[in-house]
Amino acid sequence: MVKRTKYLKIDPLVPELHKIRLAARILNRGGVVAFPTETVYGLGANALDSRAVRRIFAAKGRPADNPLIVHIASFRDIKALVAYLPPRANLLMQRFWPGPLTLILPRSEVVPDIVTAGLDTVGIRMPSHPVAQALIRAARLPIAAPSANTSGRPSPTTGRHVLKDLRGKIDAVVDGGPAMVGLESTVLDLTVPVPTILRPGGITYEDLQAVLGEVAIDPAVRGSQVARPRAPGMKYKHYAPRGEVYLVAGELDRVTAKTRALVATWQRTGRRVAVLATRETAPAYEQEPRPDYLEILGSRSQPATIAANLFSALRNCDRHQADVILAEAIAEEGLGLAIMNRLRKSAANRIIQA
Ligand code: TXA
Ligand code: MG
Repeated sequence: MVKRTKYLKIDPLVPELHKIRLAARILNRGGVVAFPTETVYGLGANALDSRAVRRIFAAKGRPADNPLIVHIASFRDIKALVAYLPPRANLLMQRFWPGPLTLILPRSEVVPDIVTAGLDTVGIRMPSHPVAQALIRAARLPIAAPSANTSGRPSPTTGRHVLKDLRGKIDAVVDGGPAMVGLESTVLDLTVPVPTILRPGGITYEDLQAVLGEVAIDPAVRGSQVARPRAPGMKYKHYAPRGEVYLVAGELDRVTAKTRALVATWQRTGRRVAVLATRETAPAYEQEPRPDYLEILGSRSQPATIAANLFSALRNCDRHQADVILAEAIAEEGLGLAIMNRLRKSAANRIIQA
């Protein structure tokens, strides 16, 4: 069904109240609204209304077995959604909320099956973005929201990305400018004896370890093929632009040499080749053989910049009609773990050792 998608440009720091109210009214009536969070744009609906949530799945083309994260705006909203709160959860909420951390907790009865994809757990997070907070408050509802992209595509970090994927399929887009973190929240399972990272994100392993002591990382995070990943979303093709992504890993000099050789090889077969490089390696690609498109994600010493630019860069490769996208691997520490997780998934595990 084609809808007229309302477009609301909003001030990200001091959101205009009348625009927030308009968007909240749509949510209250069972509609779906895309809105900015500090991680990526979310596609929200009333988490307690199965019919509204069904519209999210329809607009995204999302498989029904992939559960949604429920977004709240105040600490007291969590009580109704969970069966109980483990003490560790309180510690983490106090330290990292509002912010890019999703906690997997035992669900309560009020959470509809469609939200949790039938699991007995629910993912909950409190976003820090002023627009997300204002909207959830104004709607007076917990808001179920996956990333606001077509299923399988890179997550949207701007309002324009959302429109490109979902215009005509959702009721409104609230555009508050670029998302700050650029990668989705960290998903942490608290229903197991050792808290386990199911998806790395804005809050790092190191951050969590400092608070919890022991933290595990699900093997799927680093690309191990498991039959049934515990975050169902991790098994699907993901973050994929139209072009084929290859990850080039190894010692830095060898990575640039190998990438340049691959550019030449693929160009000879008539393919358009994009390279996702870093500040440190960019000069290597500013001489022949030149890639058809070069994107410099940021400095290796500032992974936050690389994270903020990554999804946008993957979409830019599409705009430049790249057939092949060569991305350099980076160190898997701090935010690097999340960046490499997304790159590996967008490359469907095609990793070339230089
Ligand atoms: O930063 C974010 O988390 C963004 C913004 C909009 O908040 N949301 C987001 O949602 O990335 P989505 O649906 O694209 O990714 C949610 C991930 C999926 O991999 C899903 O399988 C997992 O979290 N997940 C959700 N509920 C879960 C549960 N109860 N148990 C295990 N994994 C769960
Ligand atoms: Mg997503």
